[in-house]
Amino acid sequence: MTVSETGTVRKADFPADFAWGTATAAYQIEGAVAEDGRSPSIWDTFAHTRGRVKGGDTGDVACDHYHRWREDLDLMAGLGLNAYRLSVAWPRVVPDGRGAVNRRGLDFYDRLTDGLLERGIAPYVTLYHWDLPQVLQDAGGWANRDTAHAFAQYADAVAGRLGDRVRGWVTHNEPWCAAFLGHMMGVHAPGLSDLETALRASHHLLLSHGLATGAIRAAVPNAQVGITLILGPQHAASDREGDVAAARRGDGFLNRWFLDPLYGRGYPADMLELYRPHAPAFESAIQHGDLDLIAVPTDFLGVNYYQRSVVKHFPGGRGFMNSTQLRPPGEYTAFDWEVYPDGLREILARVHKEYAPPVLYVTENGAAYDDRPDTDGQVHDEDRRRYLERHLAACREAIEGGVPLRGYFAWSLLDNFEWAEGYSKRFGLVRVDYETGRRTVKDSGAWYGRLARGETG
Ligand code: FCB
Repeated sequence: MTVSETGTVRKADFPADFAWGTATAAYQIEGAVAEDGRSPSIWDTFAHTRGRVKGGDTGDVACDHYHRWREDLDLMAGLGLNAYRLSVAWPRVVPDGRGAVNRRGLDFYDRLTDGLLERGIAPYVTLYHWDLPQVLQDAGGWANRDTAHAFAQYADAVAGRLGDRVRGWVTHNEPWCAAFLGHMMGVHAPGLSDLETALRASHHLLLSHGLATGAIRAAVPNAQVGITLILGPQHAASDREGDVAAARRGDGFLNRWFLDPLYGRGYPADMLELYRPHAPAFESAIQHGDLDLIAVPTDFLGVNYYQRSVVKHFPGGRGFMNSTQLRPPGEYTAFDWEVYPDGLREILARVHKEYAPPVLYVTENGAAYDDRPDTDGQVHDEDRRRYLERHLAACREAIEGGVPLRGYFAWSLLDNFEWAEGYSKRFGLVRVDYETGRRTVKDSGAWYGRLARGETG
């Protein structure tokens, strides 16, 4: 049994300057979608399209964080957290996608930044957590190379305004989801189902990361800039050759497609070969110099970890992937994601060994459970607390193994709009009553606060 299956964690097991945070994303919590000059994003359009989001839920109000942000910052401060990962909504800052900057949109993030610093909480700002201005989608979205340049201008505007106070910058959140869930599987905005479009989108997302990194560095000399990827081990269902090859393809699809170009290796040759017959024009989207831009040195890599996959060869399965995913026996969350803490240790160790980013953060990790508040509204979510504890034990093991891990951001501070699942999945350390907006710290949140303050173990 590994430590992450048994262990308890203590603050003293982590570096003294470790970032103890939570993460959120603009569209999932803010609401106020038509306020202070914000334009619609692709998620407004998608959520308002019948049949796209469970229950017809939208982010129109969400957690109303746009108005309740002070209370939310007080919650974090009350827990004793020293870091917070938020995302900025592009359609608030540059409503037309490119060109004029909307001062009122930036004012909100300016207040938020000051509010965090006043409470001793370091802001980590993500520039893109999937809310592309709809006007840019109308011009082709991420499949259009121009969007990468528009992103760099937007990055410059945000960095220029917040850069005197914000040190931690994340260009993109999970470009795999933006590209493939959004353009190949059709389950996220903009809801397209075409491999070639998804590949073009992935390339332009990566290119925009490179361009934005340059823009941030030019505006903020001491910025710490990185990108956040969703990563997870792809385990073969058996040691048969076919299963091992299928797991390798899964790894190429999710992990190496992004890690390899970011760390200077270009796109993985085996994946280019696999995609070529189904997306013959994709490679013409890669222009001279793009791979150098994408491989710009960064200060850290953000890792979002939720689950591993167990992959089996299955001709015809998952289209060109010729594979299927097994559901191993074990514990599962309300999302039906396997609870597998050792996968976090494994992926951190592997990224450190094979790609060696100077610093790593776990920028998201957490679990949805069907919380049942008791009669006084309290949530005794021992399942979520254990989940966090076991994954933090995996982080500790990774650190002991030499991984330069400098922080952990639990997903999420609040229950919120969980994309295609609407409000049906609750990930918060703090419960949100969507009728009244009332916030209640769950047992898991109280525990995480004690850990961050050094009061456990
Ligand atoms: C991640 C997303 C985040 C949240 C969690 C559950 O993929 O980055 O916004 O939805 O999953």
